[in-house]
Amino acid sequence: MFYEDLVEDTGREVERLCSFLGLSISAEQREKITKGVQFDAMKQNKMTNYSTLPVMDFKISPFMRKGKVGDWKNLFTVAQNEQFDEVYKVKMKNTTLKFRTEI
Ligand SMILES: *[C@@H]1O[C@H](CO)[C@@H](O)[C@H](O)[C@H]1NC(C)=O
Ligand SMILES: *[C@@H]1O[C@H](CO)[C@@H](O)[C@H](O)[C@H]1NC(C)=O
Repeated sequence: MFYEDLVEDTGREVERLCSFLGLSISAEQREKITKGVQFDAMKQNKMTNYSTLPVMDFKISPFMRKGKVGDWKNLFTVAQNEQFDEVYKVKMKNTTLKFRTEI
């Protein structure tokens, strides 16, 4: 599963996951899951936002930040992005995974 796909169409991705798992769920259950896994819902859920674990220093950054696809472009410099691409090329050489960086 890819975050960008989930953001694009959460219901579709929940369907795909259920199909992969061989589960059949009701429309009501799908709706409930789709709502519960929205970024803003998970950010406010203490079971998913790491607020119960003392490992994160939220003064530096919340575990769940903005959830905006492509926001890295506002944070990485061109040089950092080139550096990332170089490391990625080496470390991810053998993968057939294709990541999206935008919707
Ligand atoms: C995490 O969830 C709790 C419980 O809903 C909420 O009070 C808290 O503000 C959330 N933390 C962050 C960093 O959003
Ligand atoms: C890629 O696969 C080759 C051949 O199996 C292996 O020697 C190499 O260490 C792998 N590279 C990475 C980055 O996993």
